[in-house]
Amino acid sequence: MAIQGPQAGQQQIEQTIPRTVTIDGPSAAGKSSVGYRIAQRLGYDFLDTGAMYRAVTWLALERGIDPDDDEEALAKLAADVEFEIGLPPLGEDESSILLEGRDLTPYLRQAVVERAVSLVSRVPAVRYEMVEMQRRLAAKGPLVITGRDIGTVVLPKADLKIYLDASPEERARRRYQELVAARREITQEEVLAEIHRRDRIDQSRSTSPLRPADDAIIINTDGFTLDQVVERILDLIRAER
Ligand code: DC
Repeated sequence: MAIQGPQAGQQQIEQTIPRTVTIDGPSAAGKSSVGYRIAQRLGYDFLDTGAMYRAVTWLALERGIDPDDDEEALAKLAADVEFEIGLPPLGEDESSILLEGRDLTPYLRQAVVERAVSLVSRVPAVRYEMVEMQRRLAAKGPLVITGRDIGTVVLPKADLKIYLDASPEERARRRYQELVAARREITQEEVLAEIHRRDRIDQSRSTSPLRPADDAIIINTDGFTLDQVVERILDLIRAER
């Protein structure tokens, strides 16, 4: 898609590079790993919106707010919270989150957060606040942004929309390997059950349910390596130029 040159009177240069690449998809489809690598290759900023929902969830739990039953408190928390979102820490691919100078990043993948985050992110007022923040960040410059509703709701006019999918079994296998590497005691069956549970909540919530945008390119990553998926998306980007 074309982006017009900025100044009237200047020779209009048509850049056909996508300024915004959105990557949506279910949990553990590899969005952050793929998205961050693409951002690095393009020299773009990177925003993993799941980290924002995780940060609100962690904060809610810390403050004793029931993620399943206190919409009002969750809404107030999301409206008041002012965190800074940064690039992933070295060797990681999920965005880092600072709250009043405190680094929340190490807590965002905790099991308690994993269990509660779908509940918190289905609250419409929480989503409203996160979407506003995401749009402000996206206005700053070229960006690769990952999430569930980016192509459908947050940035419906984005230049290039990818929907990364994989079977629940494949996603469970990948997530299980990550968790074992992080020394979490869990079975692959438990990981699969959790993936099914989160899919159910993410797809059936009334506000911005998980689904591909009509103009998204759907990539099923079953059987492909991370590098292969990254190259495939970079090929799509090159084809847009
Ligand atoms: O991508 P992730 O697993 O880090 O996302 C964590 C949770 O946040 C997930 O259960 C759904 C929610 N989420 C969302 O509802 N909308 C987004 N744009 C990103 C994440």
